Amino acid sequence: MAFIHIPKPWQLPESRATPEAAFWNRRKFIKTLVGAGIGASATALTACGSGGKGGSDIDPGLEKTLGRSLNNFTPNPDFQDAGRPITEQVYASRYNNYYEFGGTKNIWQAAQKLPTDPWTLEVGGLVKNPRKYDLDDLTRRFPLEERVYRFRCVEAWAMVVPWLGFPMAALMADVEPTSAAKFARFTTFFDDQITPGPAWEFALNLPWPYVEGLTIEEMANDLAFFAVGLYGRTLPKQHGAPIRMVVPWKYGFKGGKSIVKIEFLAEQPTTYWNVIAPNEYKFEANVEPDVPHPRWSQATERIVGSGTNPFNWERQDTLIYNGYGDYVADLYA
Ligand code: MTE
Repeated sequence: MAFIHIPKPWQLPESRATPEAAFWNRRKFIKTLVGAGIGASATALTACGSGGKGGSDIDPGLEKTLGRSLNNFTPNPDFQDAGRPITEQVYASRYNNYYEFGGTKNIWQAAQKLPTDPWTLEVGGLVKNPRKYDLDDLTRRFPLEERVYRFRCVEAWAMVVPWLGFPMAALMADVEPTSAAKFARFTTFFDDQITPGPAWEFALNLPWPYVEGLTIEEMANDLAFFAVGLYGRTLPKQHGAPIRMVVPWKYGFKGGKSIVKIEFLAEQPTTYWNVIAPNEYKFEANVEPDVPHPRWSQATERIVGSGTNPFNWERQDTLIYNGYGDYVADLYA
């Protein structure tokens, strides 16, 4: 059978590609980032926050947070080339948003308080087979794949991450949503003794728990994925262990971390950021370069870790649906 190569939207002519070496100047980046210490405030509130603070050079403690090796996965050949180098884990796993553990990017240590064992993911609502999955089910019940996906935050930074997990469609096949199910609500872990929230929380009365939602068609789309790992290991807590949503054509805030419950519903659920700022964070939240956020342009994005100045990462053009239009454009025709 002949292999026909259909170029993806990000497959630029070679003349426009940046050599990988130019992207990474790791020690310089980390030292500058560490020295800077950007604080978060309610006025700076965005779904993707800003800047990190504190810490030391490449922290030996990071290694301990990175989960256990997984070897029962297969690389999915359709999703190995995201058109950019994979972001080094030293950036991806120290530069996170997980507001339950604080309002800065530097929550990777605080997130280690998340209790992930035992874990129950309850799936119910309008389904034929309600289920409760335990920790073991999450890494063994569904065949695991590796998918290298682009990741685009609403605040205009971007990464490329090698996720391990299974298609949302596989879970849907297990629970069998009824014909009345039109949406799914994803509820994430919350315990006010464990998840203190950001320091400025008192000013905002945040609507915990963090909840996200998709239409049933979005959830059934080929790209929609549950990640239980990344970079060959189980998911670190800072990325939303033991299971999180990955919907790469949408802004990153749609990817709820540490999911405890999924409910299939007839009506559209309310969602965390949409309740906080409905004019800034839509339910749909697809990556759309021509639709500016009310406070900034979405036409370009900063590539995390690129270049030598952490506050001036290299910019590239944002692609409609983050480059995944072939998979999802029909959903929004
Ligand atoms: N999920 C929960 N439960 N809490 C959060 O604060 N932040 C979201 C999303 N999922 C968030 C969350 C946002 S704004 C982004 S950009 C991504 O997680 C960041 O994912 P990462 O830290 O793994 O890169």
